[in-house]
Amino acid sequence: MAAKKQPIGIFDSGVGGLTVVKAILERLPEENIVYFGDTARIPYGTKSSRTIGRFARQDCEFLRRFDPKLVVVACNSASAAAMPTLQHEAEVPCVGVIRPGARRAVEAAKGRPIGIIATEATIASRSYHEAILAIDPQSRLLERACPLLVPMVEEGRDSHDPLVRSVLKEYLAEMKSASPGVLVLGCTHYPLLREAIAHMFDGEITLVDSATETAKEVAAVLAELELATNVHSPGEQRYFVSDN
Ligand code: DGL
Repeated sequence: MAAKKQPIGIFDSGVGGLTVVKAILERLPEENIVYFGDTARIPYGTKSSRTIGRFARQDCEFLRRFDPKLVVVACNSASAAAMPTLQHEAEVPCVGVIRPGARRAVEAAKGRPIGIIATEATIASRSYHEAILAIDPQSRLLERACPLLVPMVEEGRDSHDPLVRSVLKEYLAEMKSASPGVLVLGCTHYPLLREAIAHMFDGEITLVDSATETAKEVAAVLAELELATNVHSPGEQRYFVSDN
């Protein structure tokens, strides 16, 4: 049985999962965290689901050294490609980012169309599509892969960057004309461009950020399994990357 003081292990292909770390720390500041960003092999979202699945299993293997009490797959592409396998192989609970985001999208949509933006791998997997329709089969969905956004975020570009704005315009013009009420940021890198994305829709859209929703799910799982730490001081965080 995992001990309460053991860390939460979190991984992504790069810095995107830090949006999930931030949301978890806001909610559960006393928890210890070990983060792994696979910067040597990013992007995951342009690769086949088989390759992403293999990388994700290796990322979990790395985190296992720290004896985590729970693993967060803070990468939509990895969650889409390998969630059942990761959960099956892990000796601890695994939380992915897709289910929490899908749930929130349906709640917020109230019958309006739901837009989904994500990496090519996540869109091709239809994971959001299926997760949303499983909750509400009447949902109307609009999907768009946005492959250039991850490299731009990893390069340190933000919402004010003219290149980011111009790429978003190209990707989102068609979706905008269909007036979705909700847009799922189906990649953990995208909340870092939140302001520019909201601007594309003139602010008239609810953005569903899988980081916030995943943090809620992590808190719920820890509480349910009685694994939340009982220490009352800020937790420790350790960050690892596989390259620059
Ligand atoms: N941040 C990741 C995701 O949520 C991966 C991006 C990538 O490596 O392509 O899909």
